[in-house]
Amino acid sequence: MPNQVNVVLLGLGVVGGGVARAISERADTYSQRVGASLALRRVLVRHLEKEREIKVDPGLLTADPEEALSGDVDIVVELLGGEHPAYDLIKDSLSRGRYVVTANKEVMAKHGSELLALAAERGVDILYEASVGGGIPIISPLKRDLSANDISCVRAIINGTTNYILTCMSRDGLDFDTALAQAQQLGYAEADPTNDIDGHDAAYKLAILASLAFHTRVGPEEICREGIGGLAARDFRYARELGYAIKLLAVARLEDSSLQVLVHPTLVPEDELLAKVDGVLNAVEIEGDLTGRVLFQGAGAGSLPTTSAVMADVLEAARALVLGGRPFPWRYTAEVAVRPLAELVTRYYIRLEVADRPSVLAGIARAFGDHQVSIASVIQKEADEAAQTAELVVMTHPAREEAVQATLVQVRDLPDVVSVGNLLRVDG
Ligand SMILES: NC(=O)c1ccc[n+]([C@@H]2O[C@H](COP(=O)([O-])OP(=O)(O)OC[C@H]3O[C@@H](n4cnc5c(N)ncnc54)[C@H](OP(=O)(O)O)[C@@H]3O)[C@@H](O)[C@H]2O)c1
Repeated sequence: MPNQVNVVLLGLGVVGGGVARAISERADTYSQRVGASLALRRVLVRHLEKEREIKVDPGLLTADPEEALSGDVDIVVELLGGEHPAYDLIKDSLSRGRYVVTANKEVMAKHGSELLALAAERGVDILYEASVGGGIPIISPLKRDLSANDISCVRAIINGTTNYILTCMSRDGLDFDTALAQAQQLGYAEADPTNDIDGHDAAYKLAILASLAFHTRVGPEEICREGIGGLAARDFRYARELGYAIKLLAVARLEDSSLQVLVHPTLVPEDELLAKVDGVLNAVEIEGDLTGRVLFQGAGAGSLPTTSAVMADVLEAARALVLGGRPFPWRYTAEVAVRPLAELVTRYYIRLEVADRPSVLAGIARAFGDHQVSIASVIQKEADEAAQTAELVVMTHPAREEAVQATLVQVRDLPDVVSVGNLLRVDG
């Protein structure tokens, strides 16, 4: 049994700094919990001379990946971010028979199945608890605690930046640009926020969750994705009047043996727990046939919560090394097809700007009827007297996406319709 486990850290930023500090400051605790001490052998960074809050022995720092990975290494902890060179260094590490711990959602979403197979082939493991939901335990519960269930649905709020922006728009009535600027000021949104607001980040995380929940490979390219940039402050007001919150929801639902996987701004009934997850918090709801619905909620990012998830994986890998056992490899045991968005059936919220004339409703009702989309309610909202326009909010009964889209093509052509302001789907 080894009495020391050698760890290499790739990256010493927000998360890497937290992990380096935890390994140093909690050395005794971890050593008792694992039965061997964790020794930090190398730290890969890009800028050797950078001023850092976290103080590590300068002799451990290197900017050379080959130097970082060479020698006697047991666990490689990848905290660089981005696809390259992270993917290449993870692959190299697994090929050399090292355990890998990563927080990298992009790499796991795009290359997870290949890397898991490589780890199994080499008798090691790749652990990625921190890749989804920061400090919230969700990967391990899906792999272990819920594994006796047939899961029918995963619904999640897994991007703190967008949840913060939507909370500001809803609570404070801010428009999108102001809410984004506020999120940037507070450090919740990056200078280039595209990855978050267009839903890419949430799609990577949903691909990881759906692959685990449904035991099949779901790639990020298979996920229908819509961002939050088209939302207006009044959508939140109208949704609230109708009894809904608006959330960027990541949904993977199994129906008729195929999967619907979506990331989109969604109307969630206000009495649901997910509707109350505000600010930078994240939450993941899983529906299993044995458990029913279970909800995991907490800090989806930040140095300390993410360090918690990374270190839990490091400790698990260290225990496996100490015991000398072969980890049970994760296997995809099912092949589940992904259904196109056109086949989605749900209720819709549609906001229209129309000429303020009594005849306008008849044409709109006819267009919906022509495509068998049944209207549940129509509410006339604010009128602009100067422009002689009014705003209508149409709620539909459950309808097929392709029928709704065809309806909107017809509606847009009506002479009294100025514009289709927004279309949002309801979930719940
Ligand atoms: N931040 C969070 O709250 C959070 C939450 C969940 C998951 N994650 C994930 O955790 C990972 C790390 O995120 P982070 O926020 O800690 O990133 P970060 O603060 O930007 O730190 C990245 C670190 O990697 C180093 N690095 C980047 N590219 C490199 C390269 N090509 N060669 C050598 N070193 C390189 C940087 O070196 P220098 O310091 O020299 O520039 C820096 O130390 C990402 O996958 C992220 O998605 C982060």
